[in-house]
Amino acid sequence: MIRIEPGNEVLGATVSGVDLRQPLSKGDFAALLRALGNHGVLRFPDQLISAAELKRMSGQFGELQMLSTSTLNEPGVPEVSILSNIIENGRNIGVPDAGQAWHTDMTYNAAGKQGFINALVAYAVPMRDGRPLGATEFTNTRAAYDDLPDDIKQRFADATALHDYCKYWDMMRDRGSQRPALTPAQRAEKPPVRHPVFLTHPISGRKVIYVNPAYVESIDGLAADESRRMLDYFFAHILKPGYRYVHRWQVRDVLIWDHLGTWHNAVADYAPHEHRLMKRCQVMADRVFDPHFVRQALAA
Ligand code: SIN
Repeated sequence: MIRIEPGNEVLGATVSGVDLRQPLSKGDFAALLRALGNHGVLRFPDQLISAAELKRMSGQFGELQMLSTSTLNEPGVPEVSILSNIIENGRNIGVPDAGQAWHTDMTYNAAGKQGFINALVAYAVPMRDGRPLGATEFTNTRAAYDDLPDDIKQRFADATALHDYCKYWDMMRDRGSQRPALTPAQRAEKPPVRHPVFLTHPISGRKVIYVNPAYVESIDGLAADESRRMLDYFFAHILKPGYRYVHRWQVRDVLIWDHLGTWHNAVADYAPHEHRLMKRCQVMADRVFDPHFVRQALAA
């Protein structure tokens, strides 16, 4: 039987009694959806799951992001990306610096195609002096919303912000990432999109702050300097220590997290010879924004 044990932090619960290689029962799926809405980050310890099984499991939550050719994917399973600093035959076997800045996935996509969950499996975790490195950090943007002053909640109640895929890519290159420059055609494929500054979470029904430093360029309707000032205000608020949670990986952990109510950051505190190998599926928010789907799923 599935067991969901919340930790005593602002995010995070440990899930046992479920084998992610098998199709989820309706009851287990309902429990996991509810837990994602409540706890944001779910850890499934000791899951022996292959890339193909990861894809099948993730696909139960929504459409999977098909990855661009510039990403390093699992052979034969292009929906699974490989994140790793391991070099074989002079080449990286995976993306070495994925997610190494605060962000939430795919907010550069239009509504319904932005990120809902990530599912990440740890195959190799760098260790030093008996301690795991390469943690993934999270922040809780629902708790951060709850604590905003009322005048800010009112002022931005109907506001929207502009999200741009290219911003993060260019920022990573400026920081020294070896990823190639985006071509004009790649830029044209991903025009900026708008989302509400405060989003109603489709599972919990609670408001979250839905701007993030990786993709958000500006808040609509504000002068450039005021937009910058308010974004800096939201970003600093969300990063306050009280909203943060760190997941320290163990080999065979599967982590599934809700993008809509969190940000995350992959901590790059390990050296090239300290190997980290993860495989990842990114699931879009197509189903979770369908009220019929959520009502039916949660009723099970
Ligand atoms: C990601 O941003 O999806 C990667 C997170 C990680 O590797 O810790």
